[in-house]
Amino acid sequence: MAEEERDEKKFYDDAKKYWKDIPLTINGMLGGFGQISVTDINGSRAFLRPFLTIGGGSTGTKKAIDCGSGIGRITKRLLLPTFDSVDMVELTQDFLDGAEQHIGEDFKRVDKQFCCGLQDFTPEKGKYDVIWIQWVIGHLTDDHFVQFLQRCRDGLSENGIIVLKDNCSPEKVFDDTDSSYMRTREHTLELIVKSGLKLLNSQKQKGFPKAIYDVIMFALQ
Ligand SMILES: C[S@@+](CC[C@H](N)C(=O)[O-])C[C@H]1O[C@@H](n2cnc3c(N)ncnc32)[C@H](O)[C@@H]1O
Repeated sequence: MAEEERDEKKFYDDAKKYWKDIPLTINGMLGGFGQISVTDINGSRAFLRPFLTIGGGSTGTKKAIDCGSGIGRITKRLLLPTFDSVDMVELTQDFLDGAEQHIGEDFKRVDKQFCCGLQDFTPEKGKYDVIWIQWVIGHLTDDHFVQFLQRCRDGLSENGIIVLKDNCSPEKVFDDTDSSYMRTREHTLELIVKSGLKLLNSQKQKGFPKAIYDVIMFALQ
């Protein structure tokens, strides 16, 4: 195995190991920052709404997919209240298994759960009105980031959009606790341009504690 391949395998294996031991709680999903979840969801809802038909836009509300969904924090509070049904794709099987308990009654509108790394996942063609990718893209290499976005573009329904929401740091940082990268806003935009997607809007999440790096929402098509 070439050194680059070995490094890439370690990058993905280490993340898998980290997440395997994390409790099935909001705090676990957010690395101890569970208290920001409500602000996060409110910010996401306000960002998303103008794109949707119900908010005067052209994006439908039939089907969404939550990428790197964890136990379904976003599925429960943001996506299920808006979309007829939601799919989840997640690396850690235990999180998918815990989703029913976390989500409760509305879990019946979760359609498919895929246990898969995003680097290996291909959304079904033309299926999704919204593809939501939050706090997970740092777990993909640059090449996989670009290729995943390209496969997501093919998974969009007519007028569908992709929303990427993640931390952006002043410099590229590697976190060896969970084996992920934090990219700069410029680098993230560079990779978006490389994927051929169009940036419709971007906005910084407001109201987060100062200790957290800027969190940016990017709407793409
Ligand atoms: C920081 S948590 C965020 C969970 C969820 N997006 C949220 O905001 O509540 C990161 C999630 O990504 C998952 N994950 C890590 N690497 C992944 C990969 N390569 N593909 C898909 N999911 C991954 C982890 O298991 C974990 O559930």
